[in-house]
Amino acid sequence: MTASASVSRPAVLVTRAIFPEVIERLSQYFEVDHNQPDEVLDGAALRARLAGKAGVLANAADRIDAELVAALPSLRAVCNMAVGYNNLDLPALTAAGIVATNTPDVLTETTADFGWALLMATARRVTESEHWLRAGHWQRWAYDMFLGMDLHGSTLGILGMGRIGQALARRAAGFGMTVLYHNRSRLPEQTEQALQARYVSKDELVGQSDHLLLVLPYSPESHHAIGAAELAKMKPSATLVNLARGGIVDDGALARALRERRLFAAGLDVFEGEPDVHPDLLTVPNVVLTPHIASASEKTRRAMADLAADNLIAALDAGPDAGRPPCVVNPEVLPRRR
Ligand code: DGY
Repeated sequence: MTASASVSRPAVLVTRAIFPEVIERLSQYFEVDHNQPDEVLDGAALRARLAGKAGVLANAADRIDAELVAALPSLRAVCNMAVGYNNLDLPALTAAGIVATNTPDVLTETTADFGWALLMATARRVTESEHWLRAGHWQRWAYDMFLGMDLHGSTLGILGMGRIGQALARRAAGFGMTVLYHNRSRLPEQTEQALQARYVSKDELVGQSDHLLLVLPYSPESHHAIGAAELAKMKPSATLVNLARGGIVDDGALARALRERRLFAAGLDVFEGEPDVHPDLLTVPNVVLTPHIASASEKTRRAMADLAADNLIAALDAGPDAGRPPCVVNPEVLPRRR
């Protein structure tokens, strides 16, 4: 590579520490500014590091808002390493002609596996009983120790029936569960039949589910989709699992319902304002808390990182798919991208 060719290569930022192989691969095409020490990059620091960059490989916690977009005239591609992209101001990116991408599909089954683990841990009080055991409280067996709620034969509710919701519904078949769902749009009849899932209103879903799983995208419309009013409609014996995004559940209202035993238990992988967790959730025993790890298997995180890199390379007109990034979330921008 000649010095002049090297100078003309686009500059990109990788906002968070990532598999070193991904940095190496991006370096074949770009001048890569990475953050392998994983320093906190937000606000002014993120803006400064993005200045002059053509692309960014971002994380779901990186807020790319209209103000930032307006300050970055060189930016041409924002590639999230996440299926969710509520961290991006999509209208602002689209208006500016900036391509935005995500990483769907590669995490579906891993996320559904984890959803199942969280559901079982919640319903069968796995972490609560383990903490009790570790604290030295176990003296002898008792017939009523940590009685939980069965999954088999119960009614599973799924709010948000996209790829991950459908993967969860498939798992429910093995447990002989009745599956109800609610979604912005109803699935084709054939898909409903294959999943053995019945479409109901949100109210029916909330009121009839023994276990309610949340897998819908976050948007202003889904903010506090499960708040005090919805929690009051749930069965006191029910469990609630949030795998989707913080802000879909009103965490304060949930903590009150759990403390007052108006809800049996909850499992949360995502939180409003994470990594901060509502302090009341930390003091109720009947909740399982995990740090946003639903997609965190070795294989899947590598696949997500690779797909985010594929998107960035193609969005900046390099590599075998130049100009055709695999997972664009604002395709209307392609004919008039920067
Ligand atoms: C996603 O992919 O959206 C996961 O929540 C990881 O951020």
